[in-house]
Amino acid sequence: MDATITATDMARRDERAVANALKIRYTPFVVDGGEGGRLFDVDGRSYLDFGAAWSLAGLGYSNDRVRSAVTAELGRTTFGGLVSGINRPAVELAERLIDLVPGDWEKKVWYGLSGSDASEAAMRLLPQATGRNRLVSFVGCWHGTHVGTMGLSAHPSLTGVIGGANVVKAPYPDPYHPPFLGTTENLTDQCLHYLEHYLFRTICEPRDVAAIFVEAVQSDGGDVVPPPDFMPKLRTLCDRYGILLAVDEIKVGLARTGEMFAFEHGGVEADIVLLGKSLGGGMPLSAVVARREVLDAATGSALFTASGNATGCAAGLAVLDEIARLDLVRRSAELGRYLHECLVQALGDLEIVGDIRGLGMIQGVELVKDRASREPHQPAAAKVVYRAWELGLILYYAGNWGNVLEITPPLILTRGEIDEGVGILRQAVLDVLDGKVSDETVAPYAGW
Ligand SMILES: Cc1ncc(COP(=O)(O)O)c(C=O)c1O
Repeated sequence: MDATITATDMARRDERAVANALKIRYTPFVVDGGEGGRLFDVDGRSYLDFGAAWSLAGLGYSNDRVRSAVTAELGRTTFGGLVSGINRPAVELAERLIDLVPGDWEKKVWYGLSGSDASEAAMRLLPQATGRNRLVSFVGCWHGTHVGTMGLSAHPSLTGVIGGANVVKAPYPDPYHPPFLGTTENLTDQCLHYLEHYLFRTICEPRDVAAIFVEAVQSDGGDVVPPPDFMPKLRTLCDRYGILLAVDEIKVGLARTGEMFAFEHGGVEADIVLLGKSLGGGMPLSAVVARREVLDAATGSALFTASGNATGCAAGLAVLDEIARLDLVRRSAELGRYLHECLVQALGDLEIVGDIRGLGMIQGVELVKDRASREPHQPAAAKVVYRAWELGLILYYAGNWGNVLEITPPLILTRGEIDEGVGILRQAVLDVLDGKVSDETVAPYAGW
């Protein structure tokens, strides 16, 4: 810690010098360091982390093996590229990812630096590979923030940008906010029937559709877990029309949900798997694992100078090793169940809490004005997140209406840390109900 730097001063300098375009701020937190699942600010305060930097820090903030792998690779060369040369970590990581993704067919791996890059590469290559120009995605999905991937996405905060003329949006089977007449009966069939028997018969012929993009758990849309028959029925629909299934595992993949990939809960295989965030263990790294014919569709057509750089890929290899060594798939399943139970116990009696849902180590707590109307309570979410930070817990809110407290902790938390975090969260909700956070306090932190 540098005693000459204070959080207040750093926040002032950040406000003056750093573009607002890249900010979704919930608090004035200024990071100084991290240890396990905790973060420290420049004033020396410690925070338990229930956000894992939007699920990026799956291994927490101080994994020794990731650090060593990165340091060793940097010791060999500060940059080893892939675009116009070959580096060993990139090839090894590609081989490992090919083995990791289910599906007994020929796969290859593409690399980018962010999740958005991965979605962008997939949506660019798919029409070239299939000769079909259209794509389908689901309302509430978040696939990226490039112009192309914003058009592919259908989260309310991304739909203001014009783009995605070749993308048709279908309703996602959200059990808490069912899209059709408020009924959850046969929810999957309602949504997929609309896609197949209405959209496909009117504005989007299936023979023109290259791929359907989906999140097996819709995260930024509000941590929505679709009914169990959704992914199998979506797979069947794709197969019926020769459409490829592209699953975005950027946030929920790599052990978070209690399976290596969230789509495995549905017992299906994906033709294209998008990875990012936790894959790099803190280094900027994303990947597309897909059928060879998709990724080989057009040589040199989707690349960045730093794509597949050796440092990032060395980190990725260490991350995969750590997921196996720490048994994180099983741990997330067990710990996630525990986290869910704790949340239900601590918050389930509060009228403002409309729903608590999730899969493994991604859980959402939806705040509502009243349980009968289910009307989203966005200001309360902003205040709870702020108050939790004041009390020593970091988390964010997400959702189509910005009213879902998103809990995506590092997968390495202990049960004791979960107890501690859930205790702080309950206190934060009670304090907000007590009026301890004013509108003015959270006004500069508009979040979404
Ligand atoms: C499911 C999903 N896909 C893609 C992205 C984009 O990833 P990135 O922000 O690394 O570009 C995100 C980011 O939140 C995401 O949650």
